[in-house]
Amino acid sequence: MNSDIDLINSLRDELNRHNYNYYVLSAPTISDYDFDMKMKKLQRLEALHPELDDPNSPTKRVGSDISNEFKQITHSYPMLSLANTYSNAEVTDFYMRIRKALGVDFLVDCELKYDGTSISLRYEDGRLVRAVTRGDGEKGDDVTENVRTISSIPLVLQGSGYPEVFEIRGEILMPWSVFNELNVERVENGLPPFANPRNAASGTLKLLNSKEVAKRKLDAYLYYFISDDEDYSSHYENLQKAKEWGFKISDASKRCSTLEEIFDYIQYWDDARRELPVATDGIVLKVDAVEQQHLLGFTSKTPRWAIAYKFQAERIATQLKSVSFQVGRMGTITPVANLEPVTLSGTVVKRASLHNADIIAGLDLHIGDSVYVEKGGEIIPKIVGVDEEARKSGVGERVHFISQCPECGAELKRMEGEAAHYCPNDTTCPPQIKGRIIHFASRKAMNINLGEENVNLFYELGMVKNVADLYSLNFQEIASLPRWGMQSAKRLAESLEQSKSVPFDRVLFALGIRYVGSTTAKKIASALQNIEAISSASYQTLMDIDEVGEVIANSVMEFFANEQNRDIVNRLKEAGLQFAISQADEQASNNLEGLSIVISGTFERYSRDELKQLIEAHGGKNVSSISSKTDYVLAGANMGPAKLEKANALGVKIISEADFIKMIE
Ligand code: IVH
Repeated sequence: MNSDIDLINSLRDELNRHNYNYYVLSAPTISDYDFDMKMKKLQRLEALHPELDDPNSPTKRVGSDISNEFKQITHSYPMLSLANTYSNAEVTDFYMRIRKALGVDFLVDCELKYDGTSISLRYEDGRLVRAVTRGDGEKGDDVTENVRTISSIPLVLQGSGYPEVFEIRGEILMPWSVFNELNVERVENGLPPFANPRNAASGTLKLLNSKEVAKRKLDAYLYYFISDDEDYSSHYENLQKAKEWGFKISDASKRCSTLEEIFDYIQYWDDARRELPVATDGIVLKVDAVEQQHLLGFTSKTPRWAIAYKFQAERIATQLKSVSFQVGRMGTITPVANLEPVTLSGTVVKRASLHNADIIAGLDLHIGDSVYVEKGGEIIPKIVGVDEEARKSGVGERVHFISQCPECGAELKRMEGEAAHYCPNDTTCPPQIKGRIIHFASRKAMNINLGEENVNLFYELGMVKNVADLYSLNFQEIASLPRWGMQSAKRLAESLEQSKSVPFDRVLFALGIRYVGSTTAKKIASALQNIEAISSASYQTLMDIDEVGEVIANSVMEFFANEQNRDIVNRLKEAGLQFAISQADEQASNNLEGLSIVISGTFERYSRDELKQLIEAHGGKNVSSISSKTDYVLAGANMGPAKLEKANALGVKIISEADFIKMIE
């Protein structure tokens, strides 16, 4: 027992150090495999010792399924923002103002201005106890559970010399690479993409399920250590100390003693920031000496000792030629500005998104306007303004948002509280039909050998009007189409035949029900087993499924309330597609045949329901109470002491989640 405690403690220390090396220093000293093995060992030991549970254990980085509630917390020091400047002249003004106010020499720390969402972390005895968002500056949301999953934030500090209690503030960011990947996935699942990594980071931080947060791979830079203690007299030195305690502190910071050095810094990073893995939108200048900061003080909103210099987003003027309206697979209408081509940050821009009706109205756009196009944090360029002067010399018609679908003429709708208009005619509106067929055939769905171009061709020729028509195609006719031939037609026929054995959860995903992505489809399929149960499920039955909330439940019900959708599903069923979980999906192996297993406690990787399903899928039996007939107790964290005692008394073997995974693999 004693040695287990020591082992747990030393594994926790060791894993914390490896986390730091990997996520903060980007310099791992151990292979991923060895790291995983050590993590599994710690998980196993912790499962055996629920009495040693610790929210700051490195095993807690994976988050949990328990729904978070964000309590409001009052900040011990208000979280203020910074005054913004956009020109060298304003930076000079700031510098001169400080010089005049202080009347003595001073140093200015130059830092990058990270473009994410700010966070205040509180540490007590070297351990993270609370993480609070900025909120209104006075009060913020307690997002501690979500923040624990961010690998670059230390849960337990290294070294020594840190104050017993302190707060440190910084920015939570979603790296560009994660942001781009996430948006591809969201669009695939029929969800609107995030506009920029800042929105993605703040949206992620507010997710109710910390396990989901863990998957989003957020990062964090800290830039403000707060202390009234005299030992912490220089902002720059404070951050260097914080770095030794394990915080991620930017290496880009520089302590400057002249205005010239400050301008060199700004000029250098205005360009070099493009190479950074995370978004930045400017430079922050801070008076270094904490005593001088106190002398300068605060206005009601911002410190007088700091200022933000915002980078000018690259912007150029060009002419608006026309506006077109695109209809997406889910019917969402996107207004697009067609522009006189112009080069911006090295690429030719011909089109820019106008997002929605409110943006068009806000800009009071007219055809022929000279508009400013900007490439900011977003990938798609956007129109940020109109040259009012140029307009006076005469422009064309005012741009109005359309009221009818440009493709099918249906009256557009706008959901309450949503910015986008959409075409409700999901059964005969051409881009929606074509989009749905393309989605149905895609690799993650039915994996049918049929690209976008051919879907368009078949649709234009009247050969397919919905996904069910794919299974009654005339291959003689296809073979005679230009660029087809017998061989290609045969390949398509084979691919369609193969798609009939695609498992039910993917068929469900392929149907293209709004908000039902591949993971949700899996959850729904495994919970309700077949299409009859799903199409007739009540709101409550759907809500009871893991990861299904109000929006998804309503969307599923709406889909099956539509007669045309039900008809398509029936035809697909007749064609022979899988509309129920099959024995093969369920009976993954016989590895647990004849074994009876009791589940106890909470787990890292799977929910208890999932574990139950896995036991059954691998031929085992899940039983609720321990008896002499029980083969194993699958133990997670917080296993009850009475159960533990009983298992020991009866000599029933206790296994961890990691052991279990090994058994079924
Ligand atoms: S210092 C009292 N330093 O910018 C001063 N802020 O516009 C506290 N930000 O709310 C802030 N990088 O979210 C500081 N190096 C940096 C920063 C930074 C980004 C954000 C922060 C703040 C906002 C102000």
